[in-house]
Amino acid sequence: MQIIETKHLILRPFQEGDAADLFAYLRAPTARCFLSLKLADLAEAEIEVRRRALDEGCVAIYLKQTGQVIGDLFGGAGGEDEDETTSVGWNLNPQFGGQGYAFEAARALLDHLFRAKGFRRIYAYVEDHNKPSQRLCEKLGMRREGVFIEFVSFTNDDAGNPIYENTMQYAILRREWMSGASAIGQLLGMTGLAGTETSSSGT
Ligand SMILES: CC(C)(COP(=O)(O)OP(=O)(O)OC[C@H]1O[C@@H](n2cnc3c(N)ncnc32)[C@H](O)[C@@H]1OP(=O)(O)O)[C@@H](O)C(=O)NCCC(=O)NCCS
Repeated sequence: MQIIETKHLILRPFQEGDAADLFAYLRAPTARCFLSLKLADLAEAEIEVRRRALDEGCVAIYLKQTGQVIGDLFGGAGGEDEDETTSVGWNLNPQFGGQGYAFEAARALLDHLFRAKGFRRIYAYVEDHNKPSQRLCEKLGMRREGVFIEFVSFTNDDAGNPIYENTMQYAILRREWMSGASAIGQLLGMTGLAGTETSSSGT
């Protein structure tokens, strides 16, 4: 992937040395959809970092100020993408939540996927109870297009029966992103949010 620099962040592939930062938030994933990613120890984190380093769709969010990986994004890997469509997702170390970093990173990723990679449609699945992720989608200008009732299960109840999630799909089209018709332009204009300038370098 290309390395993308924003005001506070560098979006780059995972690399050797990231294991402790990855373990810091995957030792106890907060979102049910990421429970399967839970890491037992640093040794597992090192294996996971090596796997991610080879995954084109896996992006580490590196915070310039502290020099650490504070979360990750995914999208645009290519494998399951059809009709110039890809899904995106995000997972931030909770220690760095509520500071606009997820928005800054996701905005740069969407811009990259639309402009540099040429995707036509980007969507995200979000559980109906995950308000921070819904809020992020909305700030990005994504439209809530539907709710799939009892769509997927990540956990079981005490009796071992699957607990099914109601899953929303949010999406945005390239023409909407490019035209600036999305709410993002208004948000940036209104609040002067961080990360309005991005730059990228090819790899
Ligand atoms: C979903 C998730 C990425 C959202 O992260 P986040 O930190 O809440 O998102 P943002 O970066 O948009 O920051 C949100 C808040 O930071 C605050 N903030 C502080 N300084 C800011 C700044 N300079 N710029 C922008 N926002 C700022 C804002 O008040 C904003 O709240 P608002 O949206 O109500 O205005 C995060 O909760 C997460 O990783 N959750 C666990 C994994 C998960 O659920 N993934 C999604 C599965 S579908």
